Amino acid sequence: MEALIQPSVVDGKAALQARAVAKRYRGGVRALDGIDLDIPVGSICALVGPNGAGKSTLMKAWVGFERPSSGSVAVFGINPWRNRPAALDRIGYVSQKPSLYRGLTVADHVALAGSLRSGFDPGPTRRRLDELAIPLGQDTRTLSGGQQAQVMLALALGTHAQVFVLDEPLASLDPLARREFLHVLVDAVRADGATAVLSSHVITDIEQACDRLVVLGGGRKILDVPIAEAISSHRVGTAEALPETAGAQPVGTFPGPFGERLTLWLVPPERADDPALRGATLEEVILGQLAASRSPRTPTQGQPS
Ligand SMILES: Nc1ncnc2c1ncn2[C@@H]1O[C@H](COP(=O)(O)OP(=O)(O)OP(=O)(O)O)[C@@H](O)[C@H]1O
Ligand SMILES: [Mg+2]
Repeated sequence: MEALIQPSVVDGKAALQARAVAKRYRGGVRALDGIDLDIPVGSICALVGPNGAGKSTLMKAWVGFERPSSGSVAVFGINPWRNRPAALDRIGYVSQKPSLYRGLTVADHVALAGSLRSGFDPGPTRRRLDELAIPLGQDTRTLSGGQQAQVMLALALGTHAQVFVLDEPLASLDPLARREFLHVLVDAVRADGATAVLSSHVITDIEQACDRLVVLGGGRKILDVPIAEAISSHRVGTAEALPETAGAQPVGTFPGPFGERLTLWLVPPERADDPALRGATLEEVILGQLAASRSPRTPTQGQPS
C-alpha cells in the first residue's frame, strides 16, 4: 500500500535512533520487530501504542537497560552498548515504575543525583518538589505512588539532559500536577534546546505537549509523523460511509462515544472536502491507528526515509 504521508525530513540530526531493532525476550516474546526510528533534535515526541506494544522495551534499549537481539540504537550517534556512560550522560530517563532507593529520603536522592551525575543542578528539582510540597526529609518509601513519580520527574529536570526519555511519566499524577509538569517539561526542553520522547496513553497530554507522534503496535512502527500532519491527513466517517476521494485508504474501525462504529481514513490533505467524511481529532487518529495495529500487523505509513 503506497504511503500518503511522507515522513518529515530530519535535518540530519537525530537525538535518538533505532535501526532495524528487534528484541526477543527469553521465552520467545517478540517485543520489537524491526523498528527504524529517528527522534529529531528539538522535538517532543509522543510514543503511543497498546499495552505490550514495545514502548518500554524501546526506551530501555536507548538507555542501555535492554540489549536489542538485532539491530542497533544510538543516542546522539552513541551506541549505549559500546559507551554507556557517554550515552547516559545525555539522557534524563524516568522508568515506568519508580526506581527510588529504599531507606533514603527525598533529599538523599537529590544529593545522590548530584554526586552521580555530572552537571546535575539541584535548583529545578528543589523548586519542583517545593511547589508540590513534597518534604525533602521524607523517606521515599512512605511517599504515595504519584509522589514517587513526581520525585523521579523532578530529579530528571535537574539533569538538564539533552534528551528526556520518559516512560508514562504522567500515569499516576493528578490532573493539575500533570498539566504543570508538562509545562515545566516543555519550558525545560525549549530553554535548553533539548529533545523529549514520552510514552503516554493520555491523549490530552499528548496534544498539550507533543509535536510528533509515533505509534507502535505489535513491536512495529505503524505511524511516525508531526502531530499537525497526523490530524490534517486523516478523516473520519461512520463505518458504512464510503468516501468519494480517490485513493482514500481505510485505516481502522473503532467505537465512537455513543457506541457507533467509526472508520478512520487516510486521505490526501488537499481533499479535505469529502462530503462523507469529517475532520479527525487526534484521539480519533490514535484510536484508528491502534485498531489497525491489532490486525494486520503491517506498517501503514511513516516509513523511514
Ligand atoms: N523482561 C521481560 N521478559 C519477557 N517478556 C517481556 C519482558 N519485558 C517485556 N516483555 C514483553 O514484551 C512485550 C512488550 O512489553 P513492553 O513493556 O515494552 O510494552 P509497553 O508498550 O511498554 O506496554 P505498556 O503500555 O503496558 O507499558 C510484552 O509482550 C511484554 O510481555
Ligand atoms: Mg510500558
